[in-house]
Amino acid sequence: MSAAAAAAAAAAVSALLAVSALAPPASGTAAASGFSCRPGSRPVLFNFGDSNSDTGGMAAAKGWHLTRPEGRAFFPRPTGRFCDGRLTIDFLCESLNISYLSPFLKALGSNYSNGANFAIAGAATLPRDVPFALHIQVQEFLYFRDRSLELIDQGLSGPIDAQGFQNALYMIDIGQNDVNALLSNLPYDQVVAKFPPILAEIKDAVEVLYSNGSRNFWIHGTGALGCLPQKLAIPRKNDSDLDQYGCLKTYNRAAVAFNTALGGLCDELRTQMKDATIVYTDLFPIKYDLVANHSKYGFDKPLMTCCGYGGPPYNYDFKKGCQTPEVSACDDGSKFVSWDGVHLTEAANANVAAGILSSQFSKPKIKLNQFCKA
Ligand SMILES: *[C@@H]1O[C@H](CO)[C@@H](O)[C@H](O)[C@H]1NC(C)=O
Ligand SMILES: *[C@@H]1O[C@H](CO)[C@@H](O)[C@H](O)[C@H]1NC(C)=O
Ligand SMILES: *[C@@H]1O[C@H](CO)[C@@H](O)[C@H](O)[C@H]1NC(C)=O
Ligand SMILES: *[C@@H]1O[C@H](CO)[C@@H](O)[C@H](O)[C@H]1NC(C)=O
Ligand SMILES: *[C@@H]1O[C@H](CO)[C@@H](O)[C@H](O)[C@H]1NC(C)=O
Repeated sequence: MSAAAAAAAAAAVSALLAVSALAPPASGTAAASGFSCRPGSRPVLFNFGDSNSDTGGMAAAKGWHLTRPEGRAFFPRPTGRFCDGRLTIDFLCESLNISYLSPFLKALGSNYSNGANFAIAGAATLPRDVPFALHIQVQEFLYFRDRSLELIDQGLSGPIDAQGFQNALYMIDIGQNDVNALLSNLPYDQVVAKFPPILAEIKDAVEVLYSNGSRNFWIHGTGALGCLPQKLAIPRKNDSDLDQYGCLKTYNRAAVAFNTALGGLCDELRTQMKDATIVYTDLFPIKYDLVANHSKYGFDKPLMTCCGYGGPPYNYDFKKGCQTPEVSACDDGSKFVSWDGVHLTEAANANVAAGILSSQFSKPKIKLNQFCKA
């Protein structure tokens, strides 16, 4: 990629990616928790979201040639993930013993027998009809499902059959880009007042999937937006908005308010869809804890970008993203929470996945691995 193309891609990336009351623990089998798989079958997972769970969709869609150091800690080459290695969704797939999800738009080397990933970097819920808003991602899923069933009708092999679609788990992690966009333009009260249309989109997505036979949903709340170097690097008059860990209180308050509303929406959907299982997991306390209690996780620099520019305190420059040629990454990403100022490192993602898998932050407290252990 030329320097100009790299800079353009880097600019596009940074612009786009700006990105309880608890039920008793579920006991017993997968069937008891509402999930069911045919004997001997493997779990099927469909994912919808933004760059937090994009396993290469945007890179495929736009023809982006992401370069190292993306992917260096694991694959070890760029895969279209905005990370030095695995994303949270990759660790969740590992825990289910299924292969990493192939992006729906990736033409070569994809394998959809365990599901598909519709998540795309930069995606938001609104506006709903632009690529690749949540609504579009759900339409893509319906397209995928119809083509798969059509192949099977023709006696050919489709990746997933009707029962597979019905039993699959449908995971959604979106809202971060919506909330961030609001926060960059409006004062706090007006931001919170604009949550209902965002939540209505998530509700609509679940309802459309439900009316098409999906019964198992797993919805993630958003993270600690106020601890992201990209937000902390915005010039401010004084530090009165910083909390004891150095994060922006206003951003975090908005994230918490969004998650409270999203958790409430999941409660509402649960009463409406009695034969569905809807798990809500709040990612805010998990991600905030990584910063607040960073030494416990082996992180030295919770508010510094690993692959960034400018040095302390945040090592983040709006004009020089991770993919800019003169930017070099830190030596050891496992000491950092933030990979590129917006996205977490693989080391942080591993801890986020552990938090999700603990079910401590979920309602109801169903374990992901109770879902279809073949
Ligand atoms: C994981 O799946 C593979 C097949 O892909 C199987 O051979 C292996 O036994 C499974 N492991 C566990 C722990 O279920
Ligand atoms: C796709 O993945 C499934 C499950 O991991 C595996 O059994 C199958 O062989 C794979 N297909 C191809 C063409 O690699
Ligand atoms: C799937 O959802 C779409 C949008 O809500 C709806 O128009 C369609 O009838 C549904 N299909 C089935 C088979 O329920
Ligand atoms: C800090 O800045 C905010 C506005 O950003 C202002 O309301 C507040 O009064 C300032 N505090 C001090 C101590 O200057
Ligand atoms: C930090 O860890 C302590 C002990 O585990 C916990 O009680 C506290 O809630 C954590 N702080 C944050 C902000 O997550």
